[in-house]
Amino acid sequence: MNYRHIYHAGNFADVMKHLALALVLEYLQRKDAPLCIIDAHGGIGMYDLNSVEAQKTREWEEGIGQFKDAAIPEDFKIYYDLVKHDLAAHQYAGSPKLINRMLRVQDRLIANELHPEDFETLKENLRREKNAVVTNLDAYECIRANIPPKEKRGLVLIDPPFEKTDEFQTLIKQMQEWKKRFATGVYLLWYPIKSHLAIGGLKEAATALGIPSTWCVETLMYPRHVENTFNGSGLILFNAPYQVPARYEALLPFLKERLGLVDTASQWLVSDR
Ligand SMILES: C[S@@+](CC[C@H](N)C(=O)[O-])C[C@H]1O[C@@H](n2cnc3c(N)ncnc32)[C@H](O)[C@@H]1O
Repeated sequence: MNYRHIYHAGNFADVMKHLALALVLEYLQRKDAPLCIIDAHGGIGMYDLNSVEAQKTREWEEGIGQFKDAAIPEDFKIYYDLVKHDLAAHQYAGSPKLINRMLRVQDRLIANELHPEDFETLKENLRREKNAVVTNLDAYECIRANIPPKEKRGLVLIDPPFEKTDEFQTLIKQMQEWKKRFATGVYLLWYPIKSHLAIGGLKEAATALGIPSTWCVETLMYPRHVENTFNGSGLILFNAPYQVPARYEALLPFLKERLGLVDTASQWLVSDR
């Protein structure tokens, strides 16, 4: 396990992912019924942008660093308001912290992280939070152990580091399990776009699952054919909450301009209900 998110915290991919996360949660919380949120690859929860690691890459400058002024659309504010105070202190909140900030009393968070040191840091960062538990399992074991949740309403974030060459194959198998166990769950899955990766296979498998309202969005920093780089970032959202895809799509021109993206694309893999 070599991947450490501190090198990438707040980069353009985090912005794309955390924006989707905030919009999904905000929509799900329009109903009072309790929610269970599973963050299967939690990371450490809070990142010091002044750390040696973050300073080495300074990726946040091209990501969350591009939104400092006030001229931001309302829907982007749902996410930005969650992170802006930390930014002033050169910190960036990761997914478990962002989710935790949105939790209502009736909701709960299961934040999971496998890396032993990062698990301890995450536990420390969520120490005071009553509705959050932190676990130290393999992500797919964690999901299996917790779905379907007793609330019957849930969001699962899947955000692997893609260090393993068979991660796409694993995901394709796991997605089938998730559908069998909790077909009505909302799943948000992040993936990298690189010229050699089999993105098409992942999207085909997601389509074949036939979960209603499965939507996909991709944002590119470099054209898809450019080799040996991290070309872009993709998200698949299963059981996409009503209007979240349309609201996200409406933000794409703003994101393209601010993040200097070369292209964006979105599509329904399985049609809207
Ligand atoms: C991309 S980072 C997560 C970032 C976090 N979701 C966020 O948005 O702030 C991926 C994390 O997954 C952890 N990880 C790697 N393999 C894992 C596994 N099999 N199960 C659970 N976590 C794993 C890594 O240690 C890393 O912290």
